[in-house]
Amino acid sequence: MRQPLFAAAAALAITAIATNSTSTSLADVCTVSNVQAALPANGTLLGIDLIPSAVTASALYNVSSGGTGASTTTTTYCNVTITYTHTGKGDTVVVKYAFPQPSDFENRFYVAGGGGFSLSSDATGGLTYGAVGGATSAGYDAFDYSYDEVVLYGNGSINWDATYMFGYQALGEMTQVGKVLTAGFYGLSSDTKIYTYYEGCSDGGREGMSQVQRWGEEYDGAITGAPAFRFAQQQVHHVFSSMVEQTLDYYPPPCELDKIVNATIAACDPLDGRTDGVISRTDLCMLNFNLSSIIGESYYCAAENSTSLGFGFSKRQAEGSTTSYTPAQNGTVTAEGVAVAQAIYDGLHNSDGDRAYLSWQIGSELGDAATEYSSTTGTWELEIPSTGGEYVTKFVQLLDLDNLSNLDNVTYDTLVEWMNIGFVRYYDSLQTTLPDLTPFQASGGKLLHYHGESDPSIPAASSVHYWQSVRSVMYPNATAEESLEALSDWYQFYLIPGAAHCGTNSLQPGPYPEDNMAIMIDWVENGVKPSRLNATVSSGTYEGETQMLCQWPTRPLWQSNSTTFDCVNDTASIDSWTYTFPAFKVPVY
Ligand SMILES: *[C@@H]1O[C@H](CO)[C@@H](O)[C@H](O)[C@H]1NC(C)=O
Ligand SMILES: *[C@@H]1O[C@H](CO)[C@@H](O)[C@H](O)[C@H]1NC(C)=O
Ligand SMILES: *[C@@H]1O[C@H](CO)[C@@H](O)[C@H](O)[C@H]1NC(C)=O
Ligand SMILES: *[C@@H]1O[C@H](CO)[C@@H](O)[C@H](O)[C@H]1NC(C)=O
Ligand SMILES: *[C@@H]1O[C@H](CO)[C@@H](O)[C@H](O)[C@H]1NC(C)=O
Ligand SMILES: *[C@@H]1O[C@H](CO)[C@@H](O)[C@H](O)[C@H]1NC(C)=O
Ligand SMILES: *[C@@H]1O[C@H](CO)[C@@H](O)[C@H](O)[C@H]1NC(C)=O
Ligand SMILES: *[C@@H]1O[C@H](CO)[C@@H](O)[C@H](O)[C@H]1NC(C)=O
Ligand SMILES: *[C@@H]1O[C@H](CO)[C@@H](O)[C@H](O)[C@H]1NC(C)=O
Ligand SMILES: *[C@@H]1O[C@H](CO)[C@@H](O)[C@H](O)[C@H]1NC(C)=O
Ligand SMILES: *[C@@H]1O[C@H](CO)[C@@H](O)[C@H](O)[C@H]1NC(C)=O
Ligand SMILES: *[C@@H]1O[C@H](CO)[C@@H](O)[C@H](O)[C@H]1NC(C)=O
Repeated sequence: MRQPLFAAAAALAITAIATNSTSTSLADVCTVSNVQAALPANGTLLGIDLIPSAVTASALYNVSSGGTGASTTTTTYCNVTITYTHTGKGDTVVVKYAFPQPSDFENRFYVAGGGGFSLSSDATGGLTYGAVGGATSAGYDAFDYSYDEVVLYGNGSINWDATYMFGYQALGEMTQVGKVLTAGFYGLSSDTKIYTYYEGCSDGGREGMSQVQRWGEEYDGAITGAPAFRFAQQQVHHVFSSMVEQTLDYYPPPCELDKIVNATIAACDPLDGRTDGVISRTDLCMLNFNLSSIIGESYYCAAENSTSLGFGFSKRQAEGSTTSYTPAQNGTVTAEGVAVAQAIYDGLHNSDGDRAYLSWQIGSELGDAATEYSSTTGTWELEIPSTGGEYVTKFVQLLDLDNLSNLDNVTYDTLVEWMNIGFVRYYDSLQTTLPDLTPFQASGGKLLHYHGESDPSIPAASSVHYWQSVRSVMYPNATAEESLEALSDWYQFYLIPGAAHCGTNSLQPGPYPEDNMAIMIDWVENGVKPSRLNATVSSGTYEGETQMLCQWPTRPLWQSNSTTFDCVNDTASIDSWTYTFPAFKVPVY
């Protein structure tokens, strides 16, 4: 594990141009020589050798920034690339940084997360916060390849360098180098604090957790959404829905499952006290609603030609699109269809009945269970999601194949075995569930963790379980009240009612937080600790409504159909979110 490298600060003193005056222009500082002078000297960041001759720097004025989404804002920044090698290794890591012009710089450094198997390739995400940002090639040309494309050198041969770089190392090094560079670039005095932030969702959430776990002293604030951590269980879980269908020998038309989900939402929406199209309390739904009551309801979906752009999980896959035809689906919900949905929501157990993993909350879409229509046979057939299948082929079986071709001879026990192989093999690289965050906490770090409660890709309970692990590992002797209070001083977790995977849910018009960085900056820089999370409803009857979401473990309860809700303690509900995993012998955090 990494050594703290306080020597780094000493490297700052190199002659850099003093920029304390706002009259310093971008052109003054955005030069190759200024960047070269600001590079950490070899030996100050142990194991990282900078290559000054490879530095590039060019000022960009009023360019439209990539940023996130379709924002068309223009930005002005210094586009810098630096190159380093790991001492004695001979590899090459290229990092790009975007430095705001001196008058916009607010002593901040910002790291954005990526998604799927890709690290972020955009360095400009911090500019709106007056922050320097970065993006790294991670030593495996991550700007052009996603990690799953390089994880194997060939059948049976794992690229461990890429695995550790993707797992946590590349971002940690980028931040460490970037902060030294930032100080030198703007000529900051060595005691100037550079507030350092992380923000990401999905694998970006996992990457953020990796930074908090492994490079805790480097970050002041981390915002992590729906982290794709507990990697082995999480990825193999993507095969679970198919396994259920094969085991029960029922391949539901997608429309039947859609109907089951819609009917569940309709039935459970009022349980939280307000009928607004949103299950704000999936726990009450789980405890009080019986899926069997849907049997016999009719469903209909029109025929459709759909074009799929792929899951976007791998850069290579995202390039191709496929068009498929689905016929009209007209029928009634069957007992078999309900049994499939129920088994999926119940989660994976081995043949002894021991739980191996948790699952999506009831009412979440069942996307992984989507079957494929065969126009040859005129029936619905097994379709194994490549998110899970590719993990099994490449990371477990070590075969350079993009998906499993079938589940022949595979049982629930096989899934547990696959999880266990990945769990052990990547325990210290991809698993990303170290529960001891002491270095981060002790250096003042703040963690804002959130998860859409109806996430159909990464189960919301997966985040709850990690929060519980951190609490019990870090406060083993505290009373419940003490540990809750101590934890919420620096680590807060929020479930987003109705929300899907890292976004709103077209089936449930609920709130979504859009203000997280402002909240985090206020917490880190001004000591304003949140107690609720600001979120806004963006569609439906309550469009525009602000909801101050409840901090876990309290749960929302609406006052009968009004616009206010309370955050309540509800032991039965919390228990329904609490899991143990006896199918594994090693503790699962
Ligand atoms: C650091 O070491 C590398 C080779 O290991 C060398 O190319 C580079 O010039 C050195 N950097 C500095 C800043 O001296
Ligand atoms: C960038 O835009 C600003 C504001 O519109 C303008 O004042 C400035 O001249 C532009 N700079 C360049 C280099 O085009
Ligand atoms: C930033 O500089 C690098 C290296 O010269 C270049 O490849 C890249 O295209 C530049 N980025 C932009 C947005 O111009
Ligand atoms: C489920 O609800 C969504 C929107 O609320 C609707 O578009 C869809 O057609 C419904 N599906 C079925 C099978 O009822
Ligand atoms: C789907 O595409 C086929 C071939 O282009 C066309 O004949 C058919 O009408 C389309 N069906 C629908 C429902 O759009
Ligand atoms: C669906 O099937 C039912 C019963 O067979 C029939 O009454 C109904 O018209 C069908 N609906 C559509 C849209 O085809
Ligand atoms: C890797 O293994 C798969 C599955 O056995 C096989 O199809 C493929 O040809 C192998 N690749 C190489 C390069 O041997
Ligand atoms: C599945 O098991 C049967 C019986 O043990 C065996 O004959 C067959 O080859 C196996 N299939 C695969 C794909 O492993
Ligand atoms: C918890 O209590 C045990 C036994 O008294 C003690 O050994 C341990 O250091 C305590 N742990 C913490 C984190 O205070
Ligand atoms: C919930 O329980 C915790 C711990 O017992 C307590 O500190 C908190 O005040 C309670 N919250 C509410 C809303 O009752
Ligand atoms: C909540 O977030 C919205 C959207 O960013 C913002 O306009 C509003 O001021 C925030 N409200 C509070 C109370 O912080
Ligand atoms: C809320 O309004 C719905 C109709 O929109 C009604 O069915 C329900 O009984 C009301 N719930 C409460 C708690 O008043």
